[in-house]
Amino acid sequence: MSASLPSPEEKPEFVRSMFAATARRYDRMNRLITLGQDQTWRRLVVEACQLPRGGALLDVGAGTGDIALEARKRRPDVRVVASDFTHEMMLVGRAKAGAEDLPFVEADALKLPFPADSFDAACSGFLMRNVSDVSAAFAEQRRVVRPGGRVVCLEITRPATPIWREIFHFYFHRLVPRISAWLSSNPDAYSYLPASTLAFPRPPELARIMTSVGLRDVTHRTLMLGTVALHIGTV
Ligand SMILES: C[S@@+](CC[C@H](N)C(=O)[O-])C[C@H]1O[C@@H](n2cnc3c(N)ncnc32)[C@H](O)[C@@H]1O
Repeated sequence: MSASLPSPEEKPEFVRSMFAATARRYDRMNRLITLGQDQTWRRLVVEACQLPRGGALLDVGAGTGDIALEARKRRPDVRVVASDFTHEMMLVGRAKAGAEDLPFVEADALKLPFPADSFDAACSGFLMRNVSDVSAAFAEQRRVVRPGGRVVCLEITRPATPIWREIFHFYFHRLVPRISAWLSSNPDAYSYLPASTLAFPRPPELARIMTSVGLRDVTHRTLMLGTVALHIGTV
């Protein structure tokens, strides 16, 4: 399949095989494409989870585990679980320093294998653009988080300001596919990135989707000139 978006039925397999093929280079490409900002954003995600002392955090679509590892570094008192449906991404994560006893659970974000109310927060970083049903994925995160806990979503978005929108468009449509063709054995992966970003709801619409699945007090802010959005909702 070429780089355009797969149908909702094809999407899970397309996404899984794309991340399986890029797993070993994923962290390196991420640092490069986000100009080294990705780790700073992950710290913000952990803070936004507002975990209680001794609480539990689920990182959905954890990939190579960077949010989960950041959470453990900042909050050693918290029990962190990383889940993802791409085995190869988690293999890279498992080999990282500090991940020796981090549980990686192979699971679909649309069907999480955890009982209701079993976490104090659920978070995701750059996952939601990839799922075939955004509402269903938020509903699952809401289900596994106890009342009063948080659901936090970090995702790429399109800037609202025209000038930044143009620059963003050039960067994601022209430069990113070239960088990825240079670094990756699967350049489709990084032309899928701009295509999936264009198709993804803008921040106010994403906030409405979160509210529609029962999350309360949904707020959002944008980072890096409006190219990344952080959404926070309460169960
Ligand atoms: C862009 S990576 C993000 C990884 C990590 N959260 C980070 O911040 O770097 C997206 C991850 O979401 C996972 N993913 C996509 N759709 C999924 C689904 N339906 N269920 C579980 N994981 C999924 C992919 O396997 C991939 O590891």
